Amino acid sequence: MAVLLPGGAGYIGSHTAVELLNSGKEIVIIDNFSNSKPEVLDAIKKITGKNFKFYEMDYRDKEKLEKVFEENEIEAVINFAGYKAVGESVQKPLEYYDNNIQGALSLLETMKKFNVKKFIFSSSATVYGDPEIIPITEECKTGGTTNPYGTTKLFIEQILKDIYISDSSWDICILRYFNPVGAHESGLIGEEPQGIPNNLMPYIVRVAAGTLKELSVFGNDYPTPDGTGVRDYIHVVDLAKGHVLALNKLEKEEKGLYIYNLGTGTGYSVLDMVKAFEKATNKKVAYKIAERRAGDIATCYADPKKAEEELGWKANKTLEDMCRDSWNYINKK
Ligand code: NAD
Ligand code: UFG
Repeated sequence: MAVLLPGGAGYIGSHTAVELLNSGKEIVIIDNFSNSKPEVLDAIKKITGKNFKFYEMDYRDKEKLEKVFEENEIEAVINFAGYKAVGESVQKPLEYYDNNIQGALSLLETMKKFNVKKFIFSSSATVYGDPEIIPITEECKTGGTTNPYGTTKLFIEQILKDIYISDSSWDICILRYFNPVGAHESGLIGEEPQGIPNNLMPYIVRVAAGTLKELSVFGNDYPTPDGTGVRDYIHVVDLAKGHVLALNKLEKEEKGLYIYNLGTGTGYSVLDMVKAFEKATNKKVAYKIAERRAGDIATCYADPKKAEEELGWKANKTLEDMCRDSWNYINKK
């Protein structure tokens, strides 16, 4: 029996692949390398000392997907595949709706055909829009997404809820990630954005490395302690472990549709991140204060209690670990 990981060569998928293999699971990865590289597969093997099957393919290709289900005994699917760049999604909505939603549909239809009904989905704190309350609990209202990427997450969550209502033999877990950062401590896998990064941590790392001149801090007039945006940064290895525990729950407990926030419960500002990075790495991060970025909110952090109570999951790594491991990955490459 194996767990299928569409998008398993990507940032979060590769770290989850490592944790699943280390926990004794068999995995099968499919990926089209639209945002990752084949070398990641060797790195996963090197870290774990374990082998797995891989198919280079588009997860929207149902014929090929069916072949994967015919050739392997798939017990569950954890879907990481999709596009994730917020700004790009505003420019290319059709590509985002097609890849994210059509991909999820082709996966779910194939699963139904092969009677595989355990599904874990990579959702995002973006589904809360501008959150009603902080810290954000899973009961907070969703909606009001400000870009097509966020809307694909919202729509897929709704599709999953509708599937479960129609047939309660499905067993579904929606994981709402907060802000994943960091890398595996080996330095062999990590985040590799193409072009100029949109997200804070990869940008900071490149300024420290000298490949970008300075960080633009997007706004210092938010209603936060230092005026800059506050987020819940979570180490990608902690996040990956959350998937192993979510899978355990689907395997052991009664069928259901479960939703969990995966965050630390602590918010840090942009300037907190700059200072923490400088302290952890002894590198200077030049920055300037710039205009607010359209679509950003002031504060976003999780109430992670539900995941702790029901999955036995808790983020353990510190902000220093996040900064050190992000830096280590760039330097080891
Ligand atoms: P990523 O881009 O590193 O990984 C996605 C992987 O999917 C890549 O390897 C890419 O090549 C592959 N892929 C994309 N389209 C495909 C297709 N049509 N067929 C086959 N493979 C395809 O992204 P990530 O950061 O690892 O994110 C994984 C998931 O988590 C995504 O769904 C993302 O939206 C979600 N998420 C990410 C974040 C974040 O900040 N990184 C936050 C919340 C949610
Ligand atoms: N920021 C800067 N300068 C930069 C980049 C970011 O000041 O160059 C600030 C932002 O304004 C924000 C904070 O740093 O206050 C974090 O920004 P990110 O772009 O790293 O992350 P976001 O919270 O905007 O969004 C991320 C992902 C989304 C996901 C969301 C919640 O990009 O896909 O986390 O999981 F939906």
